[in-house]
Amino acid sequence: MRRIGPRAVAIIHGAHLLRRNSDVEYKFRQPSDLLYLTGLVEPEAVAVLAPNRPESERFTMFLRPRDPEREVWTGRRLGVEGARAQLGADQAFPIAELASKLPDLLDGAEELHYLFADDKEVDDVVSAAVRSLWGHHRNGKRGPARMVDLRATLHEMRLFKDEHALAALRRAAAITAEAHVEAMRTVRPGMYEYEIEALVDYTFRRRGAHGPGYGTITGGGANATILHYIENDALLADGALLLVDAGAEVEGFTADVTRTFPVTGRFSPAQRRFYETVLRVQEAIIEAAVPGATIDGLHARTVELLTAGMVELGLLHGEVPALIEKLEHRRYYMHRTSHWLGMDVHDVGAYYESATSGSRALAEGMVITVEPGLYVAADDQRAPAPYRGLGVRIEDDVLITKGGNEVLTRAIPKHPGAIEALRR
Ligand code: GLY
Ligand code: MN
Ligand code: MN
Repeated sequence: MRRIGPRAVAIIHGAHLLRRNSDVEYKFRQPSDLLYLTGLVEPEAVAVLAPNRPESERFTMFLRPRDPEREVWTGRRLGVEGARAQLGADQAFPIAELASKLPDLLDGAEELHYLFADDKEVDDVVSAAVRSLWGHHRNGKRGPARMVDLRATLHEMRLFKDEHALAALRRAAAITAEAHVEAMRTVRPGMYEYEIEALVDYTFRRRGAHGPGYGTITGGGANATILHYIENDALLADGALLLVDAGAEVEGFTADVTRTFPVTGRFSPAQRRFYETVLRVQEAIIEAAVPGATIDGLHARTVELLTAGMVELGLLHGEVPALIEKLEHRRYYMHRTSHWLGMDVHDVGAYYESATSGSRALAEGMVITVEPGLYVAADDQRAPAPYRGLGVRIEDDVLITKGGNEVLTRAIPKHPGAIEALRR
């Protein structure tokens, strides 16, 4: 409420249940904005913050009312009484009253802060409320004169991790570490990718995480060259590498970690050369991820170092600047190096300070990933034969601190010697 100012109103919406098939629904995950502000994990909820109202009306929750008969079938509900007692709402109403109550809550506010164009149905309810206020202007009603995207305030708050966010992220990192180490210890030729997926997700859940914060990727061999590979149903061959991209979600905050390791427990000399090329770059970029650096700058440096590595490996031929100029490096490194991390794996927060400014400076309290990779398609006739079908990504989660950074996921082995030692 301090951020939006005393004459503004903010509307933060949740989501509906989504049908998976027939009468089966997906497990509910509260959209991160409403979860961040309220902690409520129920569908059909909207929060309205109105610092311009009397104290008893500043924080209003709309949510599903208690319904003992329905709750026997579909689970407990907080209800309007619970919203006051447990969420600290000043007032609460059944969600069915949102459309009729919203005009009164907005009346007299100069600004409306809202997540535009995120949910068509909510867009319609908000538009109708604004239209109704202006329609009754002659009778003393006043609609908001300015519409402000809530992303500008709420998402900036989420970008800087407070103590609670960091505690959740640290716990997510610790559980994620355990899962990756289990995967490294357990994998053997002849297993299927889904066995490792199951082991990782089981470890998350067993340690009390909500589950994975995004679909766990376990790509063996050339499947590691498919960036969002989620089938996870292939056999893990003797001599292949396995790429695991998986992070646990704790209290709505997710880790995002990738490790790539040999199914047999030992890298071949060619795999080791290829792997260490990525590792060296990843370590150099982590070291450079300090206050004042920018995500665009880190990416540009990654591209330079990786392209030099591609030349050393014989994947590309020529001068590094010219290769980059012609985008030749994209043949083997086609994604970005870093993104914000938090409640959403690709977390919110502006990457640019304004429409015209460059990439914003990293600052204390931001959390980013550093995730360079090299991917050579199995049928790439131009690549040296030993590297065809290799995909390596190494990804850690990095908290920017006052003097530098802290790698939240540093407990997860990534040096070839450390990975091989786990199996000896
Ligand atoms: N797991 C998604 C990403 O690394 O960005
Ligand atoms: Mn990532
Ligand atoms: Mn990832």
